[in-house]
Amino acid sequence: MSGSHKEPPPSCAIVIFGANGDLTKRLIVPALYNLARGGMLPERLALIGVDHNDKTSGQWRDALRDFLAQTLEKSGDKIDDKLWSAVSRSMTFLRGDFEKGETYKQLNDLLAATDKQQNLGGNVLFYMAVADRFFATIAAKLGEAGLAAQTEGGFRRLIVEKPFGHDLESARALNACLLKYLKEEQIYRIDHFLGKETVQNIMALRFANGLFEPIWNRDRIDHVQITVAENIGIEGRGNFYEKTGALRDMVPNHLFQLVAMTAMEPPVSFDAEAIRAKKAEMFKAVHPLTLGDVVRGQYDSGMVAEKPAAAYRKEANVAPDSNVETFVAMRLLIDNWRWAGVPFYLRTGKRLAARSTEIAIRFKRAPYALFRETPVEELDADWLILRVQPDESIRLRFNAKRPGPTMALESVAMEFKYKDWFQQAPAVGYETLIYDCLIGDQTLFQRADQVEAAWGVVEPVLKGWAGTAPRHFPNYAAGSEGPSAANDLLARDGRSWRTIK
Ligand code: BG6
Repeated sequence: MSGSHKEPPPSCAIVIFGANGDLTKRLIVPALYNLARGGMLPERLALIGVDHNDKTSGQWRDALRDFLAQTLEKSGDKIDDKLWSAVSRSMTFLRGDFEKGETYKQLNDLLAATDKQQNLGGNVLFYMAVADRFFATIAAKLGEAGLAAQTEGGFRRLIVEKPFGHDLESARALNACLLKYLKEEQIYRIDHFLGKETVQNIMALRFANGLFEPIWNRDRIDHVQITVAENIGIEGRGNFYEKTGALRDMVPNHLFQLVAMTAMEPPVSFDAEAIRAKKAEMFKAVHPLTLGDVVRGQYDSGMVAEKPAAAYRKEANVAPDSNVETFVAMRLLIDNWRWAGVPFYLRTGKRLAARSTEIAIRFKRAPYALFRETPVEELDADWLILRVQPDESIRLRFNAKRPGPTMALESVAMEFKYKDWFQQAPAVGYETLIYDCLIGDQTLFQRADQVEAAWGVVEPVLKGWAGTAPRHFPNYAAGSEGPSAANDLLARDGRSWRTIK
C-alpha cells in the first residue's frame, strides 16, 4: 500500500478497454482528475481509449469532460482546466472490436508511435473496464500480439475488474488464461472495497496500535457481525443481477475482503506479498460452508426512505418468477487458533432499511455481576464498531455509571469520526487503486489464490442452491431488515443482529 502518496508514478500510457462505458466516465477519469489535484499523475501520461463505437478522439475527450464537469457541478464544484489538461493532454480513441486481432495490431502501432513521441519508457497499463465476458479474450489477444510482454525497464500491467469468474471453476479458468500471457506481478485484480479509506484503515487500527491486537481473539471476542446493507434496488441492472444474485455479487469479493482485513494474522511487514500471504492463509482456515449456515432472501414491494419500492420480480429485465436472491446472510467459522469458536455473521442485501456498511465486534461480557442492581445478563456487552460507510467512524460502546446517587449503568459511546479529524480530498475511491497500480504496489489487489480460495468457500452454497428452489420468495419487504430466517440464524446461537441504520 503506497505510503503518503507523494511521488508521481513513472510516465506511461493507460489503455482503457471500454472507453465509452460507465466505469470510465464515472470512476476512472474522475479518479485521474483527483490524482492530478494531488500532483500524483505521471509527468507524461497518454490515455488511449478502445471501444467498438465510432468516435473521434476529440468527441471522446469532450464527452468525458462534460460528464466530469456535470458531476463536479452537482457537488458545488467547478472543473479546473489546469487539472483537466493534466489528464487530457494526450487522449486518443481507437475504434476496435475487442475480439479481433486487427484491433491489437492497430493498438500496437499506436502505442509505439505514442511512446516514441512522448517518451513513455515502454510503460503501459491496460485497464479492462469491460463486461467480464471479454476479460479472457482481451488478455489472450494482448498476449498474442506481444503487447503483454514487459520490455527492459518498461512495465506492462493489466487491471481486471469484478466479477472475477462466476464460481470456482470459471475463476480458475480465468486465472489460468491470464497467467498464460502475463505474470502474477503484472495482474491487478480490483475489489473496489479495498479502495475505501475506512477499509484500508482496518489494518492501521489493528497493527499500528498496541491497544487492539492483544484483545483481538477468541479470549475476548464473542462474535463479529459484518453488514453491507444497501437501500437501493438493482438500479436497472436486471440482466446482470439475474445471472449474479447477492451471493456472487457481494460475498466472495467485498464481504470477504472485510472478513480478511478483520481476521488475518499480522503480516511481518506492510509489503504486498506479506499481506496477501496472510489473507490467503486466513481464507484457507475458513470452515466449508453448509447450506444450514446460509440464508437467502428476495425483496418484495415495500417502502424505502418513505417512498414506495417495487418487488424484485417487478424490476425491468427480471423474470416474474425469479428465484435470484437479493439478500444473503451467513455464519462463517474460521478454524485457527485465534478465531476457533468465534462466529463471523455476514449479511448483505438490496432494498434494506438503510445504506450501512459496518464491522461490529462484540466483546465478551464482564464475567460476573459486581453491581447488585444490574445482573450480569442485563449488562450491555462492549462493542467496537468500524463504520465503513456512510458516516465513516470508529465507535466503542461500553458501560458507564449514570451520574446520581445509585450505581446505575448505561451503555455509552466514544467515537472517532473521519470527517472531524481529517480534511478529506474529493475522491471516488479508485484513486489509491490506480495510483498503486501505476507505482507497481499490489497490496490492495487480489492474488490468484485468494480469489480462488474465496470462491471455494461459497462453492458448496452455489451448488446447493442451484439444486433447490427457495421456498417463500419474496420473503422480505423492501425497506425492512431482511428475511426473518436471518434472525433465526443468530437466534439459534442466542444472539441477534444489530439494527440496520
Ligand atoms: C458492486 C456491486 O460491486 O458493489 C453492486 O456489483 C453494489 O451491486 C456495489 O451496489 C456496492 O459498492 P459501494 O461502493 O456502493 O458500497
